[in-house]
Amino acid sequence: MKLTKEQENRIEELIREMTLEEKVGQMNLPSISIVGGFNIPFSEMIEMMHDGRLTKEQVSEMMKDSHQDYQEDDIRAGRIGAMMVTDASVVNRLQEIALKESRRGIPLLIGLDVIHGFYSVYPIALAEACSFDEELFEQTAAMAARESRSAGVNWHFAPMLDIARDARWGRCSEGPGEDPYLASVFAAAKIRGLQGNTDSYENYVAACVKHFAGYGACEGGRDYNTTAIPGHLMYNVYLAPFEAAVKSGAVTAMAAFNDLNGTPCTVNRKLLRETLKERFGMNGFVVSDANAIRECVVHGAAENDADAGIKAVTAGMDMDMNTAIYLDHLAQAVNEGKVGMDIVDDAVRRILRVKMWLGLFDDPYIKAETVERYKALPDENRALTRRAAEESIVLLKNDNDILPLKPGQKISLVGALADMPADTVGAWAASFRKEDLVSVRQGFENGGAEFKYFACGEPEEELNYDEIQEACAYGDVIVAVVGEKTAMSGEASSRSDITLPGEQRKLLEELSACGKPVVAVLMNGRALALGWEAENIPAVVEAWHLGIETGNAVYSILSGRVMPQGKLSVSIPRVTGQCPVYYNHPNTGRPASRSKFTSKYIDLPNGALYPFGYGLTYTSFEYAGFEATVGDDAVTCTVTVKNTGSRKGTETVQFYSRDVAASIVRPVKELKAFKKVQLDPGEEAAVSVSIGLDRLGFYDNDGEYRLEDGTFLFYAGGDSENCLSAEKYIAF
Ligand code: NOJ
Repeated sequence: MKLTKEQENRIEELIREMTLEEKVGQMNLPSISIVGGFNIPFSEMIEMMHDGRLTKEQVSEMMKDSHQDYQEDDIRAGRIGAMMVTDASVVNRLQEIALKESRRGIPLLIGLDVIHGFYSVYPIALAEACSFDEELFEQTAAMAARESRSAGVNWHFAPMLDIARDARWGRCSEGPGEDPYLASVFAAAKIRGLQGNTDSYENYVAACVKHFAGYGACEGGRDYNTTAIPGHLMYNVYLAPFEAAVKSGAVTAMAAFNDLNGTPCTVNRKLLRETLKERFGMNGFVVSDANAIRECVVHGAAENDADAGIKAVTAGMDMDMNTAIYLDHLAQAVNEGKVGMDIVDDAVRRILRVKMWLGLFDDPYIKAETVERYKALPDENRALTRRAAEESIVLLKNDNDILPLKPGQKISLVGALADMPADTVGAWAASFRKEDLVSVRQGFENGGAEFKYFACGEPEEELNYDEIQEACAYGDVIVAVVGEKTAMSGEASSRSDITLPGEQRKLLEELSACGKPVVAVLMNGRALALGWEAENIPAVVEAWHLGIETGNAVYSILSGRVMPQGKLSVSIPRVTGQCPVYYNHPNTGRPASRSKFTSKYIDLPNGALYPFGYGLTYTSFEYAGFEATVGDDAVTCTVTVKNTGSRKGTETVQFYSRDVAASIVRPVKELKAFKKVQLDPGEEAAVSVSIGLDRLGFYDNDGEYRLEDGTFLFYAGGDSENCLSAEKYIAF
């Protein structure tokens, strides 16, 4: 974030003029307050909903006469720096109060969780990462920035960059998967998309990378849980995408809920001040996660609210989300000498910089014609959302070329999820318009399929056996849409059993029993344990939660109008008990073999069911002639890829390396580069990448980067398991 000298001076002038209370106000992001309609505090109502004292119906009845309190007096008094609102006219009114009626005239940041699209909801990040398409990552982010800014939102709590290796964790869905390199490419592209189009204030927003850091390693995959991550894993794996994002200019970050090696991230000075700000050089600000400063007391890391606030601000936490602890305690802490004014000034400077860089001091208002532009979804946004959905689908299995569906085939489309439009979008999507959603059933209709639809029971309830029989009788082929509803992944949605929920496996069993070919289309927000499905269902399509264009994208892939090209961003386990399972693990002293005394389970083959990077299409590719040539600054890896099937297709060629022996045990493979190649039937191409020698090192436990001479293996292949290899000795 670069500001002009004049802008920096203006900020300094403001800081000189502001009272301590006004400074603290900038550091405050209040919780949404709802008034009227009920006579208990809002927080109490949420508690009551959680513990079952209030039903959903009772709550909606109570909420009928309620409305959001935008805390206008507090804005006027300079007690609020940022808010969460999504309505252009409300935002305009609040900005006008902030600019014209507050003493310092400082505009508001308007934040929101725009994780995978605003009106145009595109695939969840875990799915989009399967496209391995850097340009797409950037374009979808830029679209989300423009759409949300038209509704007043100028700050996205995204991208979420938590490396996740344990699919039990519900928040796997929000991030780009298990691999630090793919996640870093994703991170940098998202920052360019969100923040890069600065020629007009309408086209960019401030990104907020989250959750800093290590949240994805929560023990047992249980949300909010403790994490213990050694230094080398922290630097090489968990911090990598954050570093890439900050190097690309990310202006804000959100600290994670978890404690990391004993210190909650919220009060973790080493993470926030030393790593994010000093080491990576982020010159914007850090915000806490919701209520997280207060939770430090519950963690047992602070005596009380005031103590938590002091610890957080000292650690480098610039903005308090939702607790008002800064508002209530910070001025006193400064007056008592417990917190230096320089710390407060530093936080305020960072916050004001972001506001200045967003152009909010010049023009924070949303124009009527901008709002109008998005009254209906622009065609190009819908088209991009569809392309993203198509590219994210991964074909896992296709015995006897069941797919693509053949012209003239009658299809039984089965499964309640096929007709639940709101469950296509996945976690953290709230701004879409209902009429824009395309369910799988709708997609089949739009595509002109010859099909009949059979729900065969609700996803988590008893099956309807009569309908199953009808489905078996009607189609030449059965397409069963099964998986997770939106609410089964995302925050607070960890699962101890990640097989298909409810009766859905039984449904597949029943459908298989009728002797017709069955295609399972999976809609889900995490890697599911698919051992049974892989063994018993001839064709399996991983369609994730794809967003508003789900139905059209699924049908275009099933019908073969579009070739599948997705590759897995996460390893898919056979059973839940295998979690965490990921391709880039260290070697043990006893890698799995036929010998009993090796690292494996006695009741399971080793490794993922479908590994990272895996994905089929309706043609096939052959790899040959792999070479790795070591130059002065880089290793050039070249492999010949041939389309050996009968259709034009796209392959994501992946290049991995392994440092065979080092002072710290290194992963058995690490993705270093990938390239997409489109080939006609029979066509072949030499695909080449250059991997800088400086990228062959690793961080040790103290975060020092080491390049150590020795033997390296280089690999090229269509997934992380099946690769050609070459061995080289490298002296740096
Ligand atoms: C809690 C979530 O952990 C975080 O990702 C989100 O940005 C905030 N709530 C605000 O909604």
